[in-house]
Amino acid sequence: MARTKLIAGNWKMNQTVAEATGLIAALRAQAAAMEGKDVAVCPPFTTLAAVVAAVAGTPIRVGAQNVHWADSGAYTGEVSAAMLREIPVTYVIIGHSERRQYFGETDKTVNQRLLAALKAGLTPIVCVGELLQQREANQTEAVVTTQIRDSLAGLSAAQLAATVIAYEPVWAIGTGKTASPEQAQAVHALLRALLRQSHGAVADSVRLLYGGSMKPNNAAQLLSQPDIDGGLIGGASLDVEQFMGIIKSA
Ligand code: PGA
Repeated sequence: MARTKLIAGNWKMNQTVAEATGLIAALRAQAAAMEGKDVAVCPPFTTLAAVVAAVAGTPIRVGAQNVHWADSGAYTGEVSAAMLREIPVTYVIIGHSERRQYFGETDKTVNQRLLAALKAGLTPIVCVGELLQQREANQTEAVVTTQIRDSLAGLSAAQLAATVIAYEPVWAIGTGKTASPEQAQAVHALLRALLRQSHGAVADSVRLLYGGSMKPNNAAQLLSQPDIDGGLIGGASLDVEQFMGIIKSA
């Protein structure tokens, strides 16, 4: 089944509105190179509305970096799915390893956020991935299997079809150490097999992104693997030439 490649930039806690507007203007100028691919940027909450306005008329779509599970209420510092829909954003990253590492995110809360995002019609990008010590202890398979099972608990096949999953080995994020195409493909194949086991044939339409030090010089090889359907790009998404380089190799 043909899966359109998705290249999504995760800006993390970077870019003021002024900076973001400049970055989008530079991307706009190269929008022709995005044809046939899906392209997204995921700025901080404070910048979302300005970026949505700035990408109007381009193929670039916008995502948030987190979403709360409740509709509204006493959750200081959080943002609801309806609030994101109102802007409107298309995607939302859920369960990024930095959220898991620094902000107490668990598979349980990832699952709650995921169900809320789907209910609101957002396209979630759910992140999984092992730590370095887990890879060295040969626990990668067990770790991502548990993350997938618990993060996606209760999803219908239709909901899974509306979900994007990103495999991001934590040791490769922001370190310049990328997984080899073979290492990444092996985990992606495992993820697809798990999805097939749990949800059947719909697994073949789910996009599985790779993330972790993807750059223009390693993107083509990673993105040509049979089960790698795009990238979640951190550092390189803040540099127009690098982000465009990755988009072009998709
Ligand atoms: P990186 O980040 O490309 O800077 O390694 C990827 C991510 O955290 O999504």
